[in-house]
Amino acid sequence: METRSSDPPLAGRVCVVTGATSGIGYVTARELARAGASVVAVGRDPQRTTDTVRQIVQESGSPHVRGMLADLFLQHDVRRLASELLRDFPRVHVLVNNAGAIFSRRSLTAEGMERTWALNVVTPFLLSRLLLPRLTASAPARVINVSSAAHQGVHLDFENLQGERRYSGFTVYSRSKLALVLLTYEFARRNPAPEVTVNALHPGFVATRFGHNNPGGLGVLIRVLSFLFGMRPERGARTSVFLAAEPSIHDVTGKYFDHCRIVASSPESYDATAGQRLWDVLAVQTGLPPDPPFSGAP
Ligand SMILES: NC(=O)c1ccc[n+]([C@@H]2O[C@H](COP(=O)([O-])OP(=O)(O)OC[C@H]3O[C@@H](n4cnc5c(N)ncnc54)[C@H](OP(=O)(O)O)[C@@H]3O)[C@@H](O)[C@H]2O)c1
Repeated sequence: METRSSDPPLAGRVCVVTGATSGIGYVTARELARAGASVVAVGRDPQRTTDTVRQIVQESGSPHVRGMLADLFLQHDVRRLASELLRDFPRVHVLVNNAGAIFSRRSLTAEGMERTWALNVVTPFLLSRLLLPRLTASAPARVINVSSAAHQGVHLDFENLQGERRYSGFTVYSRSKLALVLLTYEFARRNPAPEVTVNALHPGFVATRFGHNNPGGLGVLIRVLSFLFGMRPERGARTSVFLAAEPSIHDVTGKYFDHCRIVASSPESYDATAGQRLWDVLAVQTGLPPDPPFSGAP
């Protein structure tokens, strides 16, 4: 699509935001729409997704907002979402892997995977890989992984990736966010061309619905802490929007951002051997070939 100098900064860009029905994802999607992008707001609940689209259209003043449905616990749904995106959007320029959650109790998805691992790690890996040929064909393009400072101070235990042996909600969540940073760096190593950049971020401690799904201790603790100390989602979304829209970072890839700046992630996250191993584990778990076809449009 041709753009004119009077157009808003993201005119002609297609941005996909997962977890757009709440919190950081909602504000990210709205701000990208305000900046002129065509936005795909991914949600899992039909009514909430319809309401989200209506609200973003109203608040942004842009009619170019569309909802798409997927339960991101399930690879089957991620694949259907990807094929609908590929069917309906000849160009995809930005993917914000934002949906994520913490679970105080271990439980499996209908496909037999631990929920935190499925939602926070497998889905961003799978969706990015499935959309990669389209992102490459639409380049310059960006993949943005919403991680967390909670990844600091934990190690990835390859014998316990899905909390099979021991399960603590916060540790499993923290490890999932470490895995997402490792994958971000591995993705960038495997894709040295800067046409599709991939970066991770910490949004800050943000008062959203994050953690509210948990009954008892953890849910109450997160509610109290976020009421007392959490920033508004408008601030929490700033780094995601910056990574999606800021022209000066068009060729920055394989970095971790906080407050719209590149910062160091944990020492463990720079372990390239672990990153490679994790990539291979996820290739097996998703049935994808380990090496993505970085060239060639679908
Ligand atoms: N809040 C913080 O302080 C904080 C700090 C660091 C990192 N983060 C990260 O920021 C991201 C956004 O979190 P948030 O704080 O905005 O939390 P939130 O308000 O709970 O929003 C999470 C979003 O993910 C969606 N989601 C959850 N499970 C899903 C599933 N199975 N399928 C599809 N969508 C699903 C939710 O959909 P529903 O509306 O249907 O529930 C919601 O739209 C997460 O990755 C989180 O780990 C948050």
